[in-house]
Amino acid sequence: MEVINSIAELRLRLASRGRIAFVPTMGNLHHGHLALVSLARQHADCVVVSIFVNPLQFGANEDLASYPRSLQADCEGLNQSGADIVFTPSESELYPVPQTVQVEPPPIAFDLCGKHRPVHFRGVCTVVAKLFNIVRPDVAIFGKKDYQQLFILREMVRQLEIPVEMLAGETMREADGLAMSSRNNLLNPAQRMEAPRLQRALQLVVQASRQGRRDFDAIEAQTTQYLTQLGWIVDYIAVRSASTLLTPLPDERQLLVLGAARLGMTRLIDNIEFAL
Ligand code: PAF
Repeated sequence: MEVINSIAELRLRLASRGRIAFVPTMGNLHHGHLALVSLARQHADCVVVSIFVNPLQFGANEDLASYPRSLQADCEGLNQSGADIVFTPSESELYPVPQTVQVEPPPIAFDLCGKHRPVHFRGVCTVVAKLFNIVRPDVAIFGKKDYQQLFILREMVRQLEIPVEMLAGETMREADGLAMSSRNNLLNPAQRMEAPRLQRALQLVVQASRQGRRDFDAIEAQTTQYLTQLGWIVDYIAVRSASTLLTPLPDERQLLVLGAARLGMTRLIDNIEFAL
């Protein structure tokens, strides 16, 4: 496995590598990321993983400075998972001049997480478009834990005619149900014990919907109140159409419940797809 930090060198190395699968990450990798790398391995001759904590996708008061970084451990995990190339550009390599040209994401980017992180998806789309232009992958893999991100990036690829096949990897969970996330490392022991409750609360929403309730606003409000009483700061709990991410139409059956909430300073997100 090679670790490359220059765009020019990466382009040279990729010139003759056959079919390329690409897994963009911000590092501090866990089994969820490594599962995406294994999926990538099944779809290409060459697997490229990028590690870059993208400042463009963090708002002014967000956790860019404290975002966990663990390059050496990441490279060891990637080597064992079958990655061929790890691309680790510095900020000045990727953004040598201020990135004033940015990708404007679709309107859904300003709802759900985007309501609370208004610059986030513009930053994500911009860096992913840029990385796609550098790596020129045949296939790119993203996790379903970041369902809204996956949805928006698929829309970007479709509307901008970017010639890449988008694949989704399932959310990987700890034994107690907590979705794997780089931010889980930031939880203190008491918060870590409490964290799986977000997933359990989403399961209660699924259960209520399956029992025939369609008053999603009321279910969302009850779930928010339940978590708030237990010390969570809830950004949103939302039942949406799995195909549009909008409020479900009365006859829609393929749904998704998404949630974002904070324990202390650590923001966790999760979602469950379900059919009625
Ligand atoms: O999901 C992430 O880790 C990031 O948002 C991504 C896609 C690597 C862009 O920085």
